[in-house]
Amino acid sequence: MTIIDGKALSAKIKERVKKDCEELIAKGIKPTLAVILVGEDKASQTYVASKEKACIAAGMGSVMHRLGEQTTQNELLSLIEVLNKDDSIHGILVQLPLPKHLDTNEVLRRIDPNKDVDGFHALNVGKLNSGLDGFVPCTPLGIMEIFKEYNIDLVGKNALVIGRSNIVGKPMAALLLNAGATVTIAHSKTKNLAQISRSMDIIVVAIGKPKFLSADMVGEGAIIIDVGINRLDDGSLCGDADFEAIKDKCSFITPVPGGVGPMTIAMLLSNTIKSAKNELRA
Ligand code: GUN
Repeated sequence: MTIIDGKALSAKIKERVKKDCEELIAKGIKPTLAVILVGEDKASQTYVASKEKACIAAGMGSVMHRLGEQTTQNELLSLIEVLNKDDSIHGILVQLPLPKHLDTNEVLRRIDPNKDVDGFHALNVGKLNSGLDGFVPCTPLGIMEIFKEYNIDLVGKNALVIGRSNIVGKPMAALLLNAGATVTIAHSKTKNLAQISRSMDIIVVAIGKPKFLSADMVGEGAIIIDVGINRLDDGSLCGDADFEAIKDKCSFITPVPGGVGPMTIAMLLSNTIKSAKNELRA
């Protein structure tokens, strides 16, 4: 059984980003990410601060826009428009979830698809589903890097994605399918999940329920990718998989923390570099 080291792999990717960044700066382009945070959500504040720190550590530019809870849809759209037109900005990320009075779909639609480093714009979603090159959401993209790093061949494998969010589940399923896996998508309404999951070669669980994936749901030798980050009452973090109960059954498993989590920001930086390189070609 191998415990996947997402921290080490993310450090490796960040080193690559740093080198690419230096090369772009030498050519007169400073890869820069603009992040918009609306409101006071504590978890979002933490995520956004980590994104800013990682950009700076990689030598990239970081522009933060912290907007009040009462920001109107028009104010937010105007800011996006300004960032879309600003040639010094290569990536635009609107931290989700937005306050309830704002229309998330319209906000995402107004981000220039060429600067959509989150890969949430419908054009990029469509490209991913058509197998075309575009921006891919950072967490599933990070998971594909894990498969590559650990030489996990996906062709013909039975892969189960538990969770159908636009941020993780759906793009993950598309990536696995594009890579030649046979993909099943399960979610909170799926019947007989344990029966389905036991026969799977690969299980990606992103359902947001602590220790949801139990030992009886996992077959011998399965590869488990745990996207969950749940805080327990005692303050500790745990994933969507019951790590201790299933680890000896698996061939590979990602821990929480230190598995998938660190990959997300690394891929955000990587996507921003990709956008800056596109400018070079334009
Ligand atoms: N909220 C939770 N995950 C994400 C993410 O990957 N991107 C953005 N923009 N918001 C999020």
